[in-house]
Amino acid sequence: MNKSSRRAFLSATVASFAWLLTGGQASGAAPAITAGSPCKVKGKERTVNGVTFVCRNVKGKLVWRKSPTVVQEQVFTVRVLESAALELGGSKVVDVPVPWGGTTGVVVTRTNTGITALRVNCTHAGFPVARVGNVLECELHGSRFEPTTGAVLNGPAVSPLFRYEATESNNGIYVTVRNNV
Ligand code: FES
Repeated sequence: MNKSSRRAFLSATVASFAWLLTGGQASGAAPAITAGSPCKVKGKERTVNGVTFVCRNVKGKLVWRKSPTVVQEQVFTVRVLESAALELGGSKVVDVPVPWGGTTGVVVTRTNTGITALRVNCTHAGFPVARVGNVLECELHGSRFEPTTGAVLNGPAVSPLFRYEATESNNGIYVTVRNNV
């Protein structure tokens, strides 16, 4: 082997050795990561195409797992009625559009102390309640709720109706909904 062939052989050997040491990353490209593929250092994080993976010990093997996504709270306040449309003691069901899609049904009631806004769905099995006399009634199985607080008057429901924040200003009634409740 002459001098230049020896040099070429040596350089090829060094390159192969480097490839072996880096696991094929000599070009600088990161290996693809998928959930469940093996990793080496517990707790290490890598982000690929906007998805963060964490190296975790699963049943004795270190594998990549998708990092849980943190859901950002979204708060949305919407004008649901004109003030004049709701008399003292009265209730109305309104559909509140939500920015994350669709609408949510809300019963708004005017009381002596302000506006109450309650999720329209019965806490027994989700059927919509309606104002009947002085109560909110679910006609599916007969639960009844107090319209100014959402408290259960009689079951089978055991939990009160979910209450939203409600305000009144500029001759309008506003309800605030959040994506995490
Ligand atoms: S769904 Fe309302 S009482 Fe059962």
